[in-house]
Amino acid sequence: MELTDRAAGVLMSTYPPADLAFERGRGAALFDSDGAAWLDFLCGLAVTSLGHAHPAVTRAVSDQATRLVHTSNLFVTEPAVALAERLRRLTGWVDARTFFTQCGASANEAAIKLARKHGRRTHPDKVRVVTLEGSFHGRTLATLEATGQPDKHEPFRPLIGYVDTVAHDDPEALSAAVTEDHCAVLLEPIQGEGGVRVIDDAVLRAARDACDRVGALLIYDEVQTGVGRTGPWFAFQDGPVTPDVLTLAKALANGLPIGACVARGAAGEVFEPGDHATTFGGNPVTCAAANAVVDTIESENLLTTAAARSRRLVEGLERLIDTHDLAVGVRGRGLLLGLELARPVAGEIQAACRRRHLIVNAVAPDVVRLAPPLIVERAEVDLALAGLGEALAEVADDTPGTDGGAS
Ligand SMILES: Cc1ncc(COP(=O)(O)O)c(C=O)c1O
Repeated sequence: MELTDRAAGVLMSTYPPADLAFERGRGAALFDSDGAAWLDFLCGLAVTSLGHAHPAVTRAVSDQATRLVHTSNLFVTEPAVALAERLRRLTGWVDARTFFTQCGASANEAAIKLARKHGRRTHPDKVRVVTLEGSFHGRTLATLEATGQPDKHEPFRPLIGYVDTVAHDDPEALSAAVTEDHCAVLLEPIQGEGGVRVIDDAVLRAARDACDRVGALLIYDEVQTGVGRTGPWFAFQDGPVTPDVLTLAKALANGLPIGACVARGAAGEVFEPGDHATTFGGNPVTCAAANAVVDTIESENLLTTAAARSRRLVEGLERLIDTHDLAVGVRGRGLLLGLELARPVAGEIQAACRRRHLIVNAVAPDVVRLAPPLIVERAEVDLALAGLGEALAEVADDTPGTDGGAS
């Protein structure tokens, strides 16, 4: 029996049935069971930023696994402490403290609990959180409610009832929504799953001002944007304001399950023994992988390389916009980009790309997300652009009432 059929028989149906299985990867390439190569411009949902099977990560994982795999947080291990020290240096927050988790949702869950405890020190009702419409913060009950996509809430109602969601592009509405009852504003500086939507500087400033006004914490969910994906180490570093709390996951360990909740100043001192915990967070193997990721990005100067690849990709997408009626815009930053379409045919573009062994993702009905690895080569960018161009022409041909693609 095919692996995809076996999967459909035994795994819960939380994703649409997969029709594709991979056996190995190398750099920006994935290889299926026939040995055929696929160009990976999705990176396992913005995770494998160093590419597949990066030797530095493989070495770090295997070295650590031969020595020590797990101790629990009743004890300390070098990789977790060293990673927290690196995060302190990379954020530039001299007093940053980190709580490690296993994924993005659990990092946000920690940040929300931290903010509620921080708020309750002022008064017991200071527990509400403002989030933005279209956001995605995870699938646990608290992070699901913070996710500004009501269709995802529906099957799980009633929710906790602690969240107020405002438009993603209205600074006045955001300011007005934040009251003395709010302990935090939680937002992604660029909404990833929401369709690669860059949040305007005015909204980010309004969030910072509102938090300062009522003594709430500004939490940036950089689970998707962090670790070089949008240009700098963290997206806040080329934005107008600094958050109090930063959450990370996805690319931090290049595919090993990790999350981090990093807080500065008083926010870093909120949790006391017994407040919050995890069995696996800070695991030495995943932290060793993350240390290798940080060191490799620095030693191979990958933020600079990725910026050059981003320029090449954006220029190529702009050429596609000039030559295909179906492509109308490009948004995002660094190597987290969205190609905007004139019609809701992103699913068809994703499928047409797959026929060309190019993996991209329909992140919204009219937006195709591109998230290649930071190590992507120039020739791979060009290959992806060629595949996308063919896909745009094919889908335009298939869509009644269009002029057949290239204008
Ligand atoms: C911005 C953001 N926050 C949180 C999450 C949840 O992360 P995880 O799936 O690791 O729980 C995601 C996942 O896509 C995300 O993009």
